Amino acid sequence: MTDKIEIRQSLPEDIISIEKLYPVAFPDEDLLPLVRELLGEEPVVLSLVAFADKIMVGHAIFTICDIGGRIDKVALLGPIAIHPDWQRQGIGSAIVRTGLRRLENVGTRQVYVLGDPVYYARFGFETENGVAPPYPLPDEWLGAWQSLNLHGDKSPLRGKLSVPQPWRQHALWVP
Ligand SMILES: CC(C)(COP(=O)(O)OP(=O)(O)OC[C@H]1O[C@@H](n2cnc3c(N)ncnc32)[C@H](O)[C@@H]1OP(=O)(O)O)[C@@H](O)C(=O)NCCC(=O)NCCS
Repeated sequence: MTDKIEIRQSLPEDIISIEKLYPVAFPDEDLLPLVRELLGEEPVVLSLVAFADKIMVGHAIFTICDIGGRIDKVALLGPIAIHPDWQRQGIGSAIVRTGLRRLENVGTRQVYVLGDPVYYARFGFETENGVAPPYPLPDEWLGAWQSLNLHGDKSPLRGKLSVPQPWRQHALWVP
């Protein structure tokens, strides 16, 4: 199934399909305002779309961030949305791995994510303790704040993740 999947950087005209995808992937949450704003933030955003037979079935965003203005290249993964008819077929994993590879190729050191550890552990994400998220998380979410090192140098980064404007909304960081 997934050998028919094409993953590429999104184009401006993909917004129509992206706007249809999010409400079905997230029926209880309106992430479109965030997604629209992030897509307006190029080049600080890596936006990847997955197509199956010319139908958009998935989308993920990696936002380039920094830690207190330091030079280390870091990124934040999210949101990621796979059409419900296409979930559990490896498409989410394929998009994430494509994004991680591209970020690694441009020297990104660490990628952060706030998400289900059961899902993100498969890519090597581990609980993050050295770099704080932009807003304090409730205790029950602390295990969901994770990161993946893409760089040989494993000396831990410390500080607080600085995110571009679209991510600076407390509501995005609370249950
Ligand atoms: C979570 C999501 C991105 C995963 O993408 P996917 O293409 O379905 O996942 P993959 O096929 O690569 O991996 C499938 C595995 O992921 C796990 N998985 C899938 N959805 C999961 C979820 N919501 N939570 C935890 N694990 C999940 C399962 O273990 C599954 O393996 P299994 O089929 O053997 O049980 C997708 O299900 C989705 O878009 N969900 C709705 C939106 C969402 O919750 N996005 C993530 C938060 S931003």
